[in-house]
Amino acid sequence: MSAKKRIAVIFGGQSSEHEVSRVSAQSVITNINADKYDVAMIGITKDGRWLSYDGPVEKLGSGEWQAIAEAKADVLSSGGIAAAENSARSIIKSAASEAGAKTIDVVFPVLHGCNGEDGTIQGLFELAGIPYVGCGVLGSALGMDKAYSKIIFEKEGIPQGKYLVFNRKQINSDIEGIIKKVEETLIYPCFVKPSNAGSSVGVSKARDRVELVNALNLAAKHDRRILVEEFINGREVECAVLGNDDPIASTVGEVVPCNEFYDYQAKYIDGDSKITIPAELPEDTAAEIRQYAIRAFKALDCAGLSRVDFFVHKETGKVYINEINTLPGFTSISMYPKLWEASGIPYAELISRLIDLAIERFEDNTRQFE
Ligand SMILES: Nc1ncnc2c1ncn2[C@@H]1O[C@H](COP(=O)(O)OP(=O)(O)O)[C@@H](O)[C@H]1O
Ligand SMILES: [Mg+2]
Repeated sequence: MSAKKRIAVIFGGQSSEHEVSRVSAQSVITNINADKYDVAMIGITKDGRWLSYDGPVEKLGSGEWQAIAEAKADVLSSGGIAAAENSARSIIKSAASEAGAKTIDVVFPVLHGCNGEDGTIQGLFELAGIPYVGCGVLGSALGMDKAYSKIIFEKEGIPQGKYLVFNRKQINSDIEGIIKKVEETLIYPCFVKPSNAGSSVGVSKARDRVELVNALNLAAKHDRRILVEEFINGREVECAVLGNDDPIASTVGEVVPCNEFYDYQAKYIDGDSKITIPAELPEDTAAEIRQYAIRAFKALDCAGLSRVDFFVHKETGKVYINEINTLPGFTSISMYPKLWEASGIPYAELISRLIDLAIERFEDNTRQFE
């Protein structure tokens, strides 16, 4: 019998999606196949400290884990300065076990948003030489950055709405010029969002000039690049992708937001948004979505997993890509695992497959230096 693999699950993080990440991690750890894997838990606090945690998994979602971990005075690094004094590998290894001696076979970063889904921590795993679940540095960074993903979607010929990109400096210095450009190119309402963010943070629908200015200023608080997009009056549908070089796409699911759009409140607070799997769509539309999802995944050099989100226009039925999420919500009731469950891959098996894909990708990435 082969030895159990040791998986380091990293959760929390310096991101607006810290809380969601804890709930996702709790689900992953609760459901992972314990016959095949040992789990080491590493939490990253909102202020960036890495803490090893070996208490009850039920205390992840609620956040109680942190006080327990801190009480053990297991602070391994606080912020970038201490971290830089150690090698990336030793930070991960020692964070994963009290003695710092046990090997980590694979890291599963159950982190969403900035500093987790954007290639930064993936770069640390690359330096550490440890296989990790999900997309690499490039795929993560491209997927996180909405303005850049759009350039690649366009090149790949995947339909999307019209958009403009501005930077924070322009917003501060030439708001009149931006208004002019937007009004020449788009009509109200339009959508304004930070290029790098998630959970609908900083996203607004602007119905007139006053709302546009407010929306630009809000978005500029969250990123230095801001997108203004054509409003798509669409149903919101999502497709899960799994694999490395030959990825597969799941059935398509639909989200029906309980608010005017799928904002932060609708996603996490009101809880009244509905998920329908499979989405009621004409067969050829669903097939088109699956095909676009795979093309988007490959074009961005994704690996492991991604959830690709689309709009289906309510009147014309036309499909538009909205965005790709390279570390989508992973709670047991989240869209990504639910889509796979409906496509014949139960949650625990999905986790095992992602771990296998991480190892496969790591081996495929091995470079030989002369
Ligand atoms: N161009 C658009 N047209 C219509 N609705 C949009 C548009 N862009 C975003 N939305 C709405 O805002 C939500 C959040 O925007 P999204 O780009 O998906 O950002 P996030 O990464 O925060 O999820 C979407 O789920 C959708 O409800
Ligand atoms: Mg979204």
